[in-house]
Amino acid sequence: MCGIVALIGSREAAPQLLEGLRQLEYRGYDSAGIATVEADGSPGAPGRLHCLRAEGKLVNLTARWEAEGAPGHCGIGHTRWATHGKPEERNAHPHLDGSGRLAVVQNGIIENHRTLREELQAEGVTFLSDTDTEVIPHLVARRLRELGAEGHAADAALLLRAVQEVLPLLHGAYALAVVWADVPGALVVARRQAPLLIGLGEGEFLCASDTPALAGFTRTILPLEDGEVALLTPLGIELYNAAGARVQRTPSLLSGTEHVADKRSFRHFMLKEIHEQPETAALWVARHLPEGALVALPLDEAFYEGVEEIEILACGTSRHAAQVGAYLLEQLAGIPTNVFYASEFRYAPPPLVPGMLTIGVTQSGETADTLAALAMEQERRLGHGDPAYAPKLLGITNRPESSLSRMVPHLLDIGAGIEVGVAATKTFLGQLLAFYGLALAFAERRLAAGAPVGRDRQGLETLVAELRALPQQLQQLVDDHDRRCTELAHLFADTQDVIFLGRGINYPIAMEGALKLKEISYIHAEGYPAGEMKHGPIALLDARVPVVSIAMPGMVFDKVLSNAQEAKARDAQLIGVAPAGPDTALFDTLLPVPEVDELLSPLLTVIPMQLLSYHIAAHRGLDVDQPRNLAKSVTVE
Ligand code: F6R
Repeated sequence: MCGIVALIGSREAAPQLLEGLRQLEYRGYDSAGIATVEADGSPGAPGRLHCLRAEGKLVNLTARWEAEGAPGHCGIGHTRWATHGKPEERNAHPHLDGSGRLAVVQNGIIENHRTLREELQAEGVTFLSDTDTEVIPHLVARRLRELGAEGHAADAALLLRAVQEVLPLLHGAYALAVVWADVPGALVVARRQAPLLIGLGEGEFLCASDTPALAGFTRTILPLEDGEVALLTPLGIELYNAAGARVQRTPSLLSGTEHVADKRSFRHFMLKEIHEQPETAALWVARHLPEGALVALPLDEAFYEGVEEIEILACGTSRHAAQVGAYLLEQLAGIPTNVFYASEFRYAPPPLVPGMLTIGVTQSGETADTLAALAMEQERRLGHGDPAYAPKLLGITNRPESSLSRMVPHLLDIGAGIEVGVAATKTFLGQLLAFYGLALAFAERRLAAGAPVGRDRQGLETLVAELRALPQQLQQLVDDHDRRCTELAHLFADTQDVIFLGRGINYPIAMEGALKLKEISYIHAEGYPAGEMKHGPIALLDARVPVVSIAMPGMVFDKVLSNAQEAKARDAQLIGVAPAGPDTALFDTLLPVPEVDELLSPLLTVIPMQLLSYHIAAHRGLDVDQPRNLAKSVTVE
């Protein structure tokens, strides 16, 4: 949540800061701000701090900068997703100390901010915002005074020391950047459990919460480790660990185009990303379904050994992918599997059992709830002492350079390329595919060991053959439903509630359909297991409540059709996501999906869900890529 940038070098900082923020706007977009330090010209002389902030989208801040300017070769910037305090200009970052000469941007939450605020207020400090962040500039300024900054020539080492000595006072997770007008050529950044990386340019450094901010600046990066603090000057980087010891680390290179966000000719990133799914699938097939083998994943043999149960921790859309994954791991690979909301798991974990594989699923690799739940599970398992209870952690993510990746020993990179639209689409498909790969890999090994699994060898090979055909099927579906859903969207002009129904492996897809619609169109939607309707929710139905029903041939086909009939009897408008044919003639509108093995059907049924939500929201003229109150990377608990 929130994105931060910081630049130091020899060119004007503001344009690069604004460009970096533009690339990070998906992390939060309710207000934004920058602060730059303008040097006086003579060496060692104090400079001037310029701070600009604006409520709303980044365009408002850019307009202010165009009108007022913010000179200087060093600066920090922030795009906000409100946690503490309403999205108003006074709560926008950067926040300043009492003298207005020291500025801070922060991404995260300072959990003990109330105590710190009271302490500072008792010392006479006046606060201008409701944010947790504002305590930081006041604390750093106080420490600078205690270190004797006034009256001595200020230098970068003093600023570094003051920040280092304030950090232990802060509880919570954060990434922050600090500039001080008294030292125009220095920038201090730090992180604890929130992402921050430094991009190394030519004689300049750009720090950011995420790689897209570095597009066009550099491919050479130095991700900060947990607890690290860095002092940046135009001459170089000094890196320190949490204990204050100097650290040397070799920078790494960003590969591919994963940090380039380009809308091409599409109206929205979300639509572009829906259209990229055939390519996501084709890449996955090429990487993981090689000829002559069932499935190839980048996990060593020891990984599969001793796994008796699986628990999956995730949030939102990732949790829906995990639910499909759990279905596959149980029904195909025969391994008992449970899915948890990461935010719930941490406070009510199940009793420890041996042989547990814990999977964290997060496209961003930065979701605080998921990371905290994984960390807690790791800690309590390590504390047990019996090797049978030792943690075995696997991460599934689209961001191999993320915090998740640094936390888990085993990783499946879904390789979907950067996703900018806040509503997850191609990363959801990538997560599903990761679970198909994992379930097949476990099933193959358990079959060879004589353990009970859902299909024989021939059955597994048939599934893999069908998976190979997926990219082509997706291409047809995306093209076809893009058109159909454009036409259908006008039917939803006045709709206020929609019900999504599915059963078995398609129940999570009904949940995902409802979530997509809610988050981008602001229409109230619920996803239910179709059989559960008659136990209460059916009371909601009348002619004004459309029902989207996923009915794919297989074990529960007839049951779902009967449930759809029940809805029709209550005058509901029925939209079917199902193969065309006499069985599905009961639907008022059909979004046809080809008949495939029921186990593979979620890979196809999700496409009309995404396109329907997209076109309804676009038809309503809403900001599809940046829906209200949301952010792509939820780095607060
Ligand atoms: C919905 C959506 C969110 C995320 C959730 C978890 O479209 O994007 O529900 O799925 O915030 O995010 P990650 O996958 O980054 O952990």
